[in-house]
Order: sequence, then structure tokens, then C-alpha cells
Amino acid sequence: MTPELVEMLSSVVAPGHVLADADLKASYETDWTGRFKGSASAVLRPGDAQQVAEVLRVCNEAAVAVVAQGGNTGLVGGSIPRDSAVLLSLRRLDQLEAVDEISGQVTVGAGLTLARLQDHVRASGFDFGVDIAARDSATIGGMIATNAGGTRVLRYGHMRAQVVGIEAVLADGSLISRMSGLLKDNSGYDLAGLLVGSEGTLGVVTAARLRLVPLLTKRVTALLGLDDLGAALSVVARLRSELASLDSVEVFFEPGLELVREHMRLPAPFREPHGCYLLVECASRRNPLEELGSALSAAEEVQDSAVATDGPDRERLWAYREHHTAAINAAGVPHKLDISLPVERMTSFAERVEAEVTKTIPGSRVILFGHAADGNLHVNVLGPEADDERVADAVFRLVAEHDGSISAEHGIGVAKAPWLSLTRSEADIAAMRAIKRALDPKGILNPGVIFPTAPAVASQPGEASS
Ligand code: MLT
Ligand code: ZN
Repeated sequence: MTPELVEMLSSVVAPGHVLADADLKASYETDWTGRFKGSASAVLRPGDAQQVAEVLRVCNEAAVAVVAQGGNTGLVGGSIPRDSAVLLSLRRLDQLEAVDEISGQVTVGAGLTLARLQDHVRASGFDFGVDIAARDSATIGGMIATNAGGTRVLRYGHMRAQVVGIEAVLADGSLISRMSGLLKDNSGYDLAGLLVGSEGTLGVVTAARLRLVPLLTKRVTALLGLDDLGAALSVVARLRSELASLDSVEVFFEPGLELVREHMRLPAPFREPHGCYLLVECASRRNPLEELGSALSAAEEVQDSAVATDGPDRERLWAYREHHTAAINAAGVPHKLDISLPVERMTSFAERVEAEVTKTIPGSRVILFGHAADGNLHVNVLGPEADDERVADAVFRLVAEHDGSISAEHGIGVAKAPWLSLTRSEADIAAMRAIKRALDPKGILNPGVIFPTAPAVASQPGEASS
């Protein structure tokens, strides 16, 4: 970046919000797992949407790449600056408007953390439909950019289902804004829907109008021990059909539980270990203990169970699931392969994935956990070097064989771009590229993310390179 450009950008966001010093830039240049590292020519911290628009106008004019970043909790390297791009941190855009109680909606800035949004709307008797473990750092803008899912997708859908309006800046600096909260609006293309999940490649989200859900204060959590994933999935089917109050159904296995227990110094949840664990939560206005209890007592697959109704006890049960990410990270730099499958094919995939990985790279440790009701497994692999792409290749080919998707909720980022064509057709990718070219003709927004620039490791010539 030329000194003239730095000066122009400093005059837009004020010199104090342009970080050029290596020490100050460092925390923006490495992802949370430590696997993805990059370099930014500068970190810019705009204070409002107009500043974002002016930054993009200037960068587009100069054909300088821009990578937007929220809380830097992404897991696919999608918000890490590469090749000296400008890093645009949205964290200062953390405004929070009063809850509109009639529509059940709220308008917030892209830089607001999920935890602050939750505190704010709960004080008005509402809740937000998406919840993720990284709630203290993850920002609403980042969650929109990746279409975050989390633990309540089975009840409320993912991020796209919560967004009723978006304000965003396009590559040329133009501001699009549709924030009046219209639930019914069929006047042309749904630009908000298009930007959700676009991973910073089509525009930079600066604010959003969000749908809220009722605050359900009566919660019951159960941890179940089962023989295997097959047994767990038949319990999921029963709970799904019997319980209107079903909020979350999370799955994990003994290797993940062991890591969590070691990392957090937790006692074993049951006297004997089990092949598979389900963490179930029900929430309602009336205590759902009885309905959950009766559904579980009819489920013969359940070998062991622990049920909690008060806050601290429920948190103790959730700890076995929510600390998986941190515990895995503490054991090494993981390959995090977030995939989804048709629910009926999860068992076959889970039975084969460890063998596929260890056949490819002997000695690897495979830890599976995820969101059982959504067909979403997080395949975490410890052992292989950070840049050893054979792990992803083996896992994603198995996903394709099972008609799944190589990304369920984390996005494609740079980590999965070479494999996009495994589970998206040539026509799909051509349509996506046409949208990208139309909205960002110079390709300044997050280059290298989503679209493959190089073929996947073990692909045949011509495959996976569209
Ligand atoms: C989770 O479900 O905990 C998140 O997707 C994070 C992760 O996969 O590590
Ligand atoms: Zn997840």
C-alpha cells in the first residue's frame, strides 16, 4: 500500500484507528485456532457505515484487497488477511437500539457481540434464536457473514432465518440498506438473504435488523449415555416428534469427553463410559421436565441419564459439550472440518471417517462432536501438520460419497475452497461466480475465500478447479 493511500485511509477513519505497527496488528492476523496466519498492510477500525463506505470506495479505486473481520472467531481462515490486504475490523460498529416489542425485532451494529445482544434483548423478555459457544467474542456481522448455526437450529433455524433487514457496503462503496423490518417484502431480489453466508466476498455488513423469539425461562437439560450414534439418532427421532419444547440436541463421543474432562478437570458424568452421548435441552414457559422425562422413559436406547433444571447444574452438563472446542485446541492445532450429512447417513459416515483419516495419516486423532438433529458433525483431527491437506481431502471425499456438504455452519473460507466442487455443481459455482463478478468486478472483497484458486490435493486433473 502506498504512503498516499495510507494517508487517505487515515483521513477517513482517523489516524488512531489505523494500526500499522506489527504488534498491534498481530491479533488480527492469526485465527483463534492458530492454524491460519496472514499479514495485513494495515488494520482499519472504522466507526460507522459511512466510514466503511469511504474505505471501500478508496480501496476499490486503488484495487486493494479488503478482508472484513468481526470477533475473529471464524474457523476456516475466512477473516484472516492474506497477501497484505487491508483488514477492516468492524468491532467499533457495536450500536444497539431499543427492542421493538411490537414487531419483536431489534436493530444492531455488525460489531456487537452475541452475548451483548442476548443480555440486551433478554432484559425486554425476548431472546435471540441463534446461540453459539463463542458468544462472548463472536459478532453479529461475522455470524451473518458465515450464516452461523449453533445449538438451536432445529428450533429457530440458522442466522439467515433471523435476519429481516441488512445494511451493507458493496465493493464500490455504495450503501444498501433495508432496515424497516418488513416481514413480507417480495419486491425483487432478497439482497439480505444473498449477503448472509457470503463470507465477506459480496459486501461488508455494517448493521442488521433481527427477528427475536420469546424468552423461555423454564429449561431442562439432560445428558444421555447411549451405545452408539445409531441409538442416539433413534432417540433424536422420538424427541423431535414428541417434544414441542425441544431446543437443542448435541452429540459427542468418548474421545472428546476425555479431552474435555482433562482440560477442565471435570468428573466423569456416569459410572461407566458410553459409546455416544446426547446433550438434550428443552425450553418452555412452563417447566418441560415432565414431558422430557416421559419421552426419555419410553426410549429404551438410553443407558444412562443425568437431568438438571437449575442454572448451575445445567451449566455443569453443558460444560461437557461446550468445552470441546477449547479442549481440542489445547491439545494441538486442529484441522476443523465442519460437515453436514443427510441425518440417515450420519452413522455410516461416523463409522468410516476415523479409518479413512488414519489410513491417510497414521497416528491422527479424530474427535467428533456436533449438532445431532441437524446432521452436522464437527470432524476435528489432531496430529497432522497445519498445512497437510490430505486430511481434508480424505474427509471431504467421504462427505461427498454420503451426499453431504463440506460446510455446515463454519463456511468455506480459504480452508475448504479447493474442495468446493466436490459438493456444489459446476452450474452452481458458475452462478455464484457471476454474482461475485457483478457485485465486486475488481475482486477486492476477501479474495481467495469460497472460490478455489488451486485444485484439491488428491483430485484428478480438471476436477475441483472450476
Ligand atoms: C461448536 O459447535 O461448538 C462450534 O461449531 C465450534 C467448533 O466446531 O469447534
Ligand atoms: Zn457447531
